[in-house]
Amino acid sequence: MADTTFGPKGWTPERLGDLTGKTFVITGATAGVGFQAARTLLKKNASVVMLNRSAEKSQAVIAALKTEFGARADVRFIRMDLSVLASVREAAAEVLRTTPRIDALINNAAIAQTPTRKLTVDGFESQLGTNHYGHFLLNGLLFERVAESKGRIVVVASQGYNLGLRTINFDDMNWDKGYRPNTAYSQSKLAQMMFAYELQDRLAAAGRTDVQVYVCHPGSSATSLIATSGGRLTRFLSWLMTKTPLVQSAERGAWPEVMCATEDGLEQRALYGPTGFLQMVGPVGRGTLNPHAYDKPVMQQLWDVSEKAVGYEWKL
Ligand SMILES: NC(=O)c1ccc[n+]([C@@H]2O[C@H](COP(=O)([O-])OP(=O)(O)OC[C@H]3O[C@@H](n4cnc5c(N)ncnc54)[C@H](OP(=O)(O)O)[C@@H]3O)[C@@H](O)[C@H]2O)c1
Repeated sequence: MADTTFGPKGWTPERLGDLTGKTFVITGATAGVGFQAARTLLKKNASVVMLNRSAEKSQAVIAALKTEFGARADVRFIRMDLSVLASVREAAAEVLRTTPRIDALINNAAIAQTPTRKLTVDGFESQLGTNHYGHFLLNGLLFERVAESKGRIVVVASQGYNLGLRTINFDDMNWDKGYRPNTAYSQSKLAQMMFAYELQDRLAAAGRTDVQVYVCHPGSSATSLIATSGGRLTRFLSWLMTKTPLVQSAERGAWPEVMCATEDGLEQRALYGPTGFLQMVGPVGRGTLNPHAYDKPVMQQLWDVSEKAVGYEWKL
């Protein structure tokens, strides 16, 4: 049943108040819903720090945002390639040096549907390495700054967590055997969700209420996700879909993550996103969260595997 918390139109940016004095750190804001989330927050006078892999694209989008909102719009970028752990460490150090508060750390960047199996420089299957391991390390390194700010962690997931294995392939994390683009993507997005739900549990066990952790997804949104990393057929099909009402704009796709970064009174053990047809489009609210996303033994094992993989132990 559709969530009616925010009325028939669902959550919209009309609910946003003035965000002066608040700082949002967002990964992958050069394009798609990340760019639109940055735009929506800047419109309300927030400070935005983008963690992007391309300096050139970052300069171009910052120039565009300053053209739209004026030269004093408080937006900057720090270079970070999520697929390279050393780059994540450098970027996190730079954030800690330059960013005294983080009201929300929005884990938005991703690659999807990489047609052939590739490994990151650290030896991880590229989607798992970029989407999950990179963010897992980043969040660990920035966690205390978020906590000092009584902030939030927002994970941008995907309904793809319902596809593929619906669990983590611990015997073959890097898909040495039987690599399939969509299965590997689905696992990487499920891993991101499990990170969030396990973090909630660890915070609760430690009696900590200083950080809230929320999970959302943009439904089906017209972005450059598939064009950036998908194969030719997937790119064609995804382009065809954008001609149907089953795909919404990237601007609307950004609403769930902006909501999770700003709105009070949300549930943590939940999944927010569009609540219309197949939860791909439509009013933004609380959607369906299937229990395999918080399968406790799997979440715990994934946490241990992830700490070892990235060489970082969380202290909560
Ligand atoms: N669009 C959808 O329908 C849909 C559906 C479900 C979930 N999602 C999720 O929504 C989120 C945003 O995706 P999107 O659709 O907006 O895709 P997008 O338009 O391709 O934007 C992805 C962003 O991530 C960045 N990125 C990719 N690899 C990176 C890396 N190694 N290091 C740092 N940044 C990197 C990209 O940078 P570059 O510009 O340099 O490529 C870009 O800024 C993702 O988490 C995705 O899984 C999207």
